[in-house]
Amino acid sequence: MRCSLTKNVGFFIVFLNVVLVYYTWKTFNSYEPLKSKLFETKAVKSIISKSSINHVSKSTTVVIRDFELHENDVSATVQSFIKVFPNIQIIILSRGLPYPPLQFHGNETVRNVKVINLAAKFDVPYQSNPLSLIKTNYVLFVPDSSRILHRQYIQTMINHLNSGEKMVAVGYSQSKNLTCLQANLTLREWSLKFKTVKDDCDFVQGKHAMMIDLGTLNKLNDPFLLPSPHSIYLQTTYFKLKVKILYGIQFQDGKPLFHSHHSQKLKIKSDQDKFKKLYQRFNVKRVRKENGMVENYGCNRDTARCFGSIINYTPSYIYENKTMPPCCLANLRRTAQHVFNTLHESGIRHWLEIGSLIGAMRTGDVIPWDFDVDIGFNRDDLARCTWLKRASSKPIVDAKGFLWERATEGNFYRVHFSKANRVHVNLLPFYARNGSMLKDAWFTSMGMDFPEHFLHPMSSIEFLGRQVPSPNNIRDFLELKFGRGIVENAHYPDFKFKFT
Ligand SMILES: *[C@@H]1O[C@H](CO)[C@@H](O)[C@H](O)[C@H]1NC(C)=O
Ligand SMILES: *[C@@H]1O[C@H](CO)[C@@H](O)[C@H](O)[C@H]1NC(C)=O
Ligand SMILES: *[C@@H]1O[C@H](CO)[C@@H](O)[C@H](O)[C@H]1NC(C)=O
Ligand SMILES: *[C@@H]1O[C@H](CO)[C@@H](O)[C@H](O)[C@H]1NC(C)=O
Ligand SMILES: *[C@@H]1O[C@H](CO)[C@@H](O)[C@H](O)[C@H]1NC(C)=O
Repeated sequence: MRCSLTKNVGFFIVFLNVVLVYYTWKTFNSYEPLKSKLFETKAVKSIISKSSINHVSKSTTVVIRDFELHENDVSATVQSFIKVFPNIQIIILSRGLPYPPLQFHGNETVRNVKVINLAAKFDVPYQSNPLSLIKTNYVLFVPDSSRILHRQYIQTMINHLNSGEKMVAVGYSQSKNLTCLQANLTLREWSLKFKTVKDDCDFVQGKHAMMIDLGTLNKLNDPFLLPSPHSIYLQTTYFKLKVKILYGIQFQDGKPLFHSHHSQKLKIKSDQDKFKKLYQRFNVKRVRKENGMVENYGCNRDTARCFGSIINYTPSYIYENKTMPPCCLANLRRTAQHVFNTLHESGIRHWLEIGSLIGAMRTGDVIPWDFDVDIGFNRDDLARCTWLKRASSKPIVDAKGFLWERATEGNFYRVHFSKANRVHVNLLPFYARNGSMLKDAWFTSMGMDFPEHFLHPMSSIEFLGRQVPSPNNIRDFLELKFGRGIVENAHYPDFKFKFT
């Protein structure tokens, strides 16, 4: 077959291009940067490498923060970085003395690597701050069990920060894909809600290394809290700073950890503790995860009620311009459900009262800033309920763990979530006289007596997802007690009940 000269040249150019594309691809994808490459003389290569290595080492500090003392791969992780960047600064922040001790080889290593034990120590003054040890512009937070094989990757991360990103994240080749999360942090409601998104991440989830600039780190209340870097994202979310996932590059996993059942259990417990401490520290009491699961922090049956003092019927959270902590609200709802069940079963005539009735009218729920539930009942029926009867002489914990007691400040009753956790429902006794429902001395400043006809017939209203008994003509009933427009106008936080 005959080929023309142009055809031959054309074919040759195409061939050359294919070769070029292949080697370019190979160069950029290889994890073995130190292997000699085609089209690159050794001398040229070593100059490029040296300046790049120096640049990375001068601008980046590696921080290893989150690892377990009992089982870790920190030494080998450090070795891996030192091998690629012999002069890079590495800071290991541990919450105790690692044992077996971390071991580094070679004199270089010992010079660049600092191990800081953050456990409480008598001879270390309060002001000691690991941040003061960092002199570089960028900080790379590296998870335990990491290997870096390609120095270009860190340079790529630096380039992204140089061009305006605040934080960049890089995943690991053998670990799960990273998840990008949007977080809604509403401190007023003590809550944090996650949603999976494609980009504009507030949080990154999954094993990853994260680079951040020192200026941003300096703004944070405590950049070294555990779990890391989750704690950083919690704080940067407050400042609306985003983290960008670099999908094109990946670090390598090191030694697999936590194989045995025992060490897995320790690890899970350790992680739970870290989240608990972190969220407690920043007053996040409710976390709704991206899969819809809700985790409550800071209140259960055994702990004290999760808000502080109530002074003049104003709880501390209202003073802080916040709503009732969500876990408390959940406990209050549980207590109210229990009380409605008990009153219903014992056949006591009862009805929803004052603030709770306003809440029911508005949203079928407790008003967001309220801290208790109020139920009126007919005093003549008191003896029908064993727990109420017994509570009239002394406080008593019922079969389901709720505490019934007579209020010390007046002739009414309270049912608390538990003996320790005193979020509660008020039970307010009334009796009928001459066409009116009257109360004893437990309430002073507002006219609380009301005409009996509001209870004949009894009505009902939806509250906490169920129908509960209520007076008839609820609006008239409430306006009689609180004045016109109360249902619409009751507002946070001025609406206070004045008991004596
Ligand atoms: C490391 O330093 C010690 C003294 O501090 C010295 O004896 C030894 O030769 C050094 N090792 C290397 C590999 O430089
Ligand atoms: C991880 O991400 C890559 C690239 O986006 C995708 O091809 C792969 O299917 C993902 N793997 C999993 C397990 O989701
Ligand atoms: C965040 O949560 C609050 C309170 O739950 C809600 O009002 C607000 O719309 C949410 N914001 C976003 C962006 O989802
Ligand atoms: C609550 O809000 C008021 C008015 O917006 C403000 O004056 C006060 O300082 C806030 N209190 C706290 C503890 O933040
Ligand atoms: C009952 O009410 C009527 C009218 O409201 C009043 O005249 C009467 O004195 C009241 N009786 C008692 C015992 O309070």
